[in-house]
Amino acid sequence: MKFKVNSKACCRKTIPMNKKLLVLGALACITIAGIWFYPVTREKTATGTPMVKVNVPADLADVAEGKLAFDGNCASCHGKNASGSNGNGPPLIHKIYEPGHHGDMSFMLAAKNGTRAHHWKFGDMPPVEDISDTKIKNIIAYVRKLQRANGIN
Ligand code: HEC
Repeated sequence: MKFKVNSKACCRKTIPMNKKLLVLGALACITIAGIWFYPVTREKTATGTPMVKVNVPADLADVAEGKLAFDGNCASCHGKNASGSNGNGPPLIHKIYEPGHHGDMSFMLAAKNGTRAHHWKFGDMPPVEDISDTKIKNIIAYVRKLQRANGIN
Protein backbone atom coordinates (compact mmCIF):
# COMPACT_ATOMS: atom_id res chain seq x y z
CA MET A 1 0.00 0.00 0.00
CA LYS A 2 2.77 2.38 0.95
CA PHE A 3 4.56 1.52 -2.29
CA LYS A 4 1.49 2.34 -4.38
CA VAL A 5 1.15 5.80 -2.84
CA ASN A 6 4.83 6.50 -3.40
CA SER A 7 4.82 5.41 -7.01
CA LYS A 8 1.83 7.62 -7.78
CA ALA A 9 3.49 10.61 -6.19
CA CYS A 10 6.59 9.89 -8.21
CA CYS A 11 4.84 9.61 -11.52
CA ARG A 12 2.83 12.79 -11.16
CA LYS A 13 6.04 14.79 -11.01
CA THR A 14 7.65 13.15 -14.02
CA ILE A 15 6.83 12.97 -17.74
CA PRO A 16 3.37 11.55 -18.65
CA MET A 17 3.33 7.91 -19.75
CA ASN A 18 2.34 8.55 -23.38
CA LYS A 19 5.28 10.92 -23.86
CA LYS A 20 7.60 8.34 -22.33
CA LEU A 21 6.30 5.73 -24.77
CA LEU A 22 6.85 8.13 -27.65
CA VAL A 23 10.45 8.74 -26.60
CA LEU A 24 11.01 5.00 -26.12
CA GLY A 25 9.54 4.29 -29.56
CA ALA A 26 11.73 6.93 -31.19
CA LEU A 27 14.82 5.55 -29.45
CA ALA A 28 13.95 2.03 -30.61
CA CYS A 29 13.60 3.25 -34.22
CA ILE A 30 16.91 5.09 -34.08
CA THR A 31 18.64 2.04 -32.62
CA ILE A 32 17.22 -0.31 -35.27
CA ALA A 33 18.11 2.11 -38.08
CA GLY A 34 21.59 2.51 -36.60
CA ILE A 35 22.22 -1.23 -36.47
CA TRP A 36 20.76 -1.73 -39.96
CA PHE A 37 22.98 0.86 -41.65
CA TYR A 38 26.05 0.58 -39.43
CA PRO A 39 28.15 -1.49 -41.86
CA VAL A 40 27.38 0.91 -44.74
CA THR A 41 28.03 4.22 -43.01
CA ARG A 42 31.12 2.85 -41.26
CA GLU A 43 33.00 2.49 -44.55
CA LYS A 44 33.87 6.19 -44.65
CA THR A 45 37.31 6.85 -46.02
CA ALA A 46 38.80 9.75 -48.00
CA THR A 47 36.30 12.47 -48.94
CA GLY A 48 35.01 12.22 -52.50
CA THR A 49 35.98 8.58 -53.06
CA PRO A 50 33.34 6.15 -54.42
CA MET A 51 31.43 4.11 -51.85
CA VAL A 52 30.44 1.15 -54.00
CA LYS A 53 31.90 -0.50 -57.08
CA VAL A 54 29.62 0.11 -60.06
CA ASN A 55 29.64 -2.02 -63.20
CA VAL A 56 29.17 0.46 -66.03
CA PRO A 57 27.39 -0.98 -69.11
CA ALA A 58 29.43 -0.56 -72.31
CA ASP A 59 26.55 1.04 -74.20
CA LEU A 60 25.01 4.06 -72.51
CA ALA A 61 23.97 5.76 -75.77
CA ASP A 62 20.24 5.43 -75.02
CA VAL A 63 20.65 7.23 -71.68
CA ALA A 64 23.34 9.71 -72.75
CA GLU A 65 21.18 12.75 -71.91
CA GLY A 66 20.45 11.36 -68.48
CA LYS A 67 24.15 10.77 -67.84
CA LEU A 68 24.93 14.35 -68.88
CA ALA A 69 22.23 15.76 -66.58
CA PHE A 70 23.32 13.49 -63.74
CA ASP A 71 26.97 14.49 -64.09
CA GLY A 72 26.01 18.16 -64.03
CA ASN A 73 23.44 18.09 -61.22
CA CYS A 74 23.84 15.04 -59.03
CA ALA A 75 27.36 13.58 -59.33
CA SER A 76 28.92 16.18 -57.02
CA CYS A 77 27.13 14.44 -54.15
CA HIS A 78 26.10 11.02 -55.49
CA GLY A 79 29.45 10.35 -57.16
CA LYS A 80 30.53 9.33 -60.63
CA ASN A 81 28.17 6.65 -62.00
CA ALA A 82 26.08 7.18 -58.85
CA SER A 83 28.66 5.17 -56.91
CA GLY A 84 28.42 7.53 -53.92
CA SER A 85 30.93 10.07 -52.73
CA ASN A 86 32.42 9.69 -49.28
CA GLY A 87 31.57 12.69 -47.15
CA ASN A 88 29.14 14.12 -49.77
CA GLY A 89 26.30 11.77 -50.62
CA PRO A 90 25.17 8.15 -50.89
CA PRO A 91 25.41 5.79 -53.88
CA LEU A 92 22.13 5.49 -55.79
CA ILE A 93 23.39 2.15 -57.11
CA HIS A 94 22.37 0.57 -53.83
CA LYS A 95 19.57 -1.77 -52.86
CA ILE A 96 17.98 0.98 -50.76
CA TYR A 97 17.17 2.79 -54.01
CA GLU A 98 15.81 -0.16 -56.00
CA PRO A 99 12.54 0.71 -57.82
CA GLY A 100 10.43 -1.17 -55.26
CA HIS A 101 11.77 0.95 -52.37
CA HIS A 102 12.40 4.28 -54.06
CA GLY A 103 10.16 4.52 -57.10
CA ASP A 104 10.63 7.10 -59.86
CA MET A 105 8.44 9.55 -57.94
CA SER A 106 10.91 9.63 -55.05
CA PHE A 107 13.65 10.68 -57.50
CA MET A 108 11.38 13.39 -58.90
CA LEU A 109 10.53 14.65 -55.41
CA ALA A 110 14.12 14.48 -54.15
CA ALA A 111 15.38 16.53 -57.10
CA LYS A 112 12.60 19.14 -56.83
CA ASN A 113 12.21 19.46 -53.06
CA GLY A 114 15.33 17.91 -51.62
CA THR A 115 15.04 15.31 -48.89
CA ARG A 116 15.64 15.09 -45.16
CA ALA A 117 18.57 12.92 -44.10
CA HIS A 118 17.04 9.63 -43.01
CA HIS A 119 19.05 6.75 -44.45
CA TRP A 120 22.56 8.16 -44.14
CA LYS A 121 24.66 10.65 -42.21
CA PHE A 122 25.44 13.15 -44.96
CA GLY A 123 22.82 15.65 -43.86
CA ASP A 124 19.79 16.81 -45.89
CA MET A 125 19.76 16.86 -49.68
CA PRO A 126 18.93 20.41 -50.84
CA PRO A 127 16.49 20.94 -53.75
CA VAL A 128 18.30 20.91 -57.11
CA GLU A 129 17.85 24.40 -58.60
CA ASP A 130 16.32 24.91 -62.05
CA ILE A 131 16.01 21.29 -63.12
CA SER A 132 13.27 20.33 -65.59
CA ASP A 133 11.01 17.27 -65.33
CA THR A 134 12.47 16.01 -68.61
CA LYS A 135 16.00 16.15 -67.22
CA ILE A 136 14.95 14.32 -64.06
CA LYS A 137 13.19 11.64 -66.15
CA ASN A 138 16.35 11.21 -68.22
CA ILE A 139 18.40 10.96 -65.03
CA ILE A 140 16.03 8.29 -63.69
CA ALA A 141 16.40 6.25 -66.91
CA TYR A 142 20.20 6.50 -66.59
CA VAL A 143 20.26 5.54 -62.91
CA ARG A 144 17.83 2.63 -63.45
CA LYS A 145 20.01 1.30 -66.27
CA LEU A 146 23.08 1.41 -64.02
CA GLN A 147 21.07 -0.25 -61.23
CA ARG A 148 19.96 -3.09 -63.53
CA ALA A 149 23.54 -3.63 -64.70
CA ASN A 150 24.43 -4.11 -61.05
CA GLY A 151 21.66 -6.51 -60.16
CA ILE A 152 19.41 -3.92 -58.53
CA ASN A 153 15.90 -4.08 -59.94
C1 HEC B 1 24.26 18.62 -52.30
C2 HEC B 1 24.30 17.18 -52.39
C3 HEC B 1 23.29 16.47 -53.26
C4 HEC B 1 22.95 16.73 -54.57
C5 HEC B 1 23.51 17.80 -55.50
C6 HEC B 1 21.98 15.71 -54.94
N1 HEC B 1 21.72 14.90 -53.87
FE1 HEC B 1 20.40 13.38 -53.83
N2 HEC B 1 20.79 13.07 -51.85
C7 HEC B 1 21.79 13.69 -51.14
C8 HEC B 1 21.87 13.10 -49.83
C9 HEC B 1 22.85 13.48 -48.74
C10 HEC B 1 20.87 12.09 -49.77
C11 HEC B 1 20.59 11.11 -48.64
C12 HEC B 1 19.53 11.55 -47.66
C13 HEC B 1 19.34 10.45 -46.62
O1 HEC B 1 20.07 10.44 -45.63
O2 HEC B 1 18.48 9.58 -46.85
C14 HEC B 1 20.22 12.11 -51.06
C15 HEC B 1 19.15 11.28 -51.40
C16 HEC B 1 18.64 11.16 -52.67
C17 HEC B 1 17.56 10.28 -53.04
C18 HEC B 1 16.75 9.40 -52.10
C19 HEC B 1 15.52 10.19 -51.67
C20 HEC B 1 14.68 9.47 -50.65
O3 HEC B 1 13.45 9.54 -50.77
O4 HEC B 1 15.22 8.82 -49.75
C21 HEC B 1 17.38 10.39 -54.39
C22 HEC B 1 16.38 9.64 -55.23
C23 HEC B 1 18.33 11.39 -54.84
N3 HEC B 1 19.07 11.84 -53.77
C24 HEC B 1 18.45 11.77 -56.15
C25 HEC B 1 19.22 12.85 -56.57
C26 HEC B 1 19.23 13.33 -57.93
C27 HEC B 1 18.47 12.70 -59.08
C28 HEC B 1 20.06 14.43 -57.95
C29 HEC B 1 20.38 15.33 -59.11
C30 HEC B 1 19.27 15.85 -59.89
C31 HEC B 1 20.56 14.61 -56.59
N4 HEC B 1 20.03 13.64 -55.79
C32 HEC B 1 21.43 15.63 -56.19
C33 HEC B 1 22.58 14.73 -51.58
C34 HEC B 1 22.51 15.31 -52.83
